[in-house]
Amino acid sequence: MEGALSAVFGPALNPFYFLGGIAYFLLWVLVASGFYVYFFFDTGVVLGYQSLEDLTRKQPYLGGVLRSLHHYAADGMVLAMTLHLLREFFMDRYRNFRWFSWVTGVPLLWLVYASGIGGYWQVWDRLAQFIAIGTAEWFDYFPIFGEPLVRNFLEDGGVSDRFFSLLAFAHIGIPLLLMVFLWVHTQRITRAVAAPPAPVALGILLALVALSLIKPILSHAAADLGAVPNNLKFDWFYLAVYPLLYIWSPGAVWALTGGFTLLLFLLPWLPPRMHQEPIVEVHLDNCNGCGNCVADCPYAALSLEPRTDGRRFVHEAVLRPDLCASCGVCVGSCPYAMPFRSVGELVSGVDLPDVPVRALRATTDKAVAALAGEVRVMVFGCDHAPKIVKAPGVAYVGLRCIGMLPPSFIDYALRGSAVDGVFIIGCADCRYRRGDQWLKQRLAGERDPRLRGRVSRERVHHCSVTDIPGGRVTAHREFAEFREHLRRLPRRRVGSETGSATPRG
Ligand code: HEM
Repeated sequence: MEGALSAVFGPALNPFYFLGGIAYFLLWVLVASGFYVYFFFDTGVVLGYQSLEDLTRKQPYLGGVLRSLHHYAADGMVLAMTLHLLREFFMDRYRNFRWFSWVTGVPLLWLVYASGIGGYWQVWDRLAQFIAIGTAEWFDYFPIFGEPLVRNFLEDGGVSDRFFSLLAFAHIGIPLLLMVFLWVHTQRITRAVAAPPAPVALGILLALVALSLIKPILSHAAADLGAVPNNLKFDWFYLAVYPLLYIWSPGAVWALTGGFTLLLFLLPWLPPRMHQEPIVEVHLDNCNGCGNCVADCPYAALSLEPRTDGRRFVHEAVLRPDLCASCGVCVGSCPYAMPFRSVGELVSGVDLPDVPVRALRATTDKAVAALAGEVRVMVFGCDHAPKIVKAPGVAYVGLRCIGMLPPSFIDYALRGSAVDGVFIIGCADCRYRRGDQWLKQRLAGERDPRLRGRVSRERVHHCSVTDIPGGRVTAHREFAEFREHLRRLPRRRVGSETGSATPRG
């Protein structure tokens, strides 16, 4: 599915990469459309139904459309949230340092469902009647209410206008609570992508408006507690468990929903355990407190604190070990991760103990030294992206995340004449959220540390794909094109400044 969507929209606008942001966006659509609908909505047993009928029939192209939009956005939110959950699960993005985002996501499921189901009640039509009785029977499984709730729905006088005021209060209050939980949900994420790119948002909005015009949402007949509701137009996004109340029993539905919720809560700690690479170390001797690593860490694991070692700098980077993803994105941002350094041992201010910057330099040196052929390409690739290794004249260095690559390494690889060009492969949907994006900005000179101006940009290519069949094809195609492009460039002169060249032949 991801490949098909990338083929249609391109990796930069693939909705699969913004599912959390799409769910957020739909929440704002719900709030905006809900405001309008509420303006015309009268709370009450009879008034509620009538006011919604009036809204739909008397202003079909505004109130009617906004009511339908409210409904479809609510369905869309369940869809986006479910896909977001499934994607995080199947991409193995829920364990170790991610446990917090996962666990705080679980209550969101209940809150979204409670908001949506509460919305259905307010209409007080036959479907609302079915849901009200089902919910009462479901909750009556626990004898916590003095009288069984379901008794309120035995005859028409049982439900009062005050009860509907309470429902209206809950229908506004629960989404507010949802927003508080959403804020908590993204607390351990730096600059959470809480909105999809504008074209995706616009596309979704237009699709929902079109759906609202083509298939407007209409109420069922008004609720009648003297009759059994049947022939219901069912919204499976929200109401899928309700039939189970009658096929199974309320107790069995509690076992299903409660058990599933518990399973979700426990999932980050259930086997198989995920391997966690050694986390980053801060080397104060090489930290000037510039704050690049703090700005770039995708999981808010680094902060700037007052200097403790008496050196002339004001700040130092401080790590919160439990938040560190070991992705190395901070290494790529450190000005001390400079391969040209010849004085002393190469250690950066933040470094990964298992793959330190000096090891990265040694691997690069070795790979460059082995290069031969007419066109020689140095490839820096993310371990999670498609690999381009087995081609003549290719030296490959893999990294945990492409954001770990300090731009000075590109300059370094191109410093002599042993390399004709540098090809970089990152993930369009970065496993560590922002690695590929930060690298792109560093190459474009929009983010520190920047790729030096002296590096000939025509000898550097950055390819953003994911490791799916379509992504692999794109990576190999872009690589072949880049090689062809290098072949046509003038040959680089021995000992030349980076990027300067003499004509080939
Ligand atoms: C209303 C529903 C939800 C919304 C609006 C939402 C929104 C978001 C957003 C905006 C992010 C940050 C994305 C980024 O910048 O990389 C995120 C991350 C995450 N969400 Fe949700 N979420 C929702 C429900 C859930 C649920 C139900 C779960 C799972 C139980 C979940 C699990 C996660 C995880 C594990 C991450 C971290 C991803 C990572 O570290 O790469 N979310 N969510």
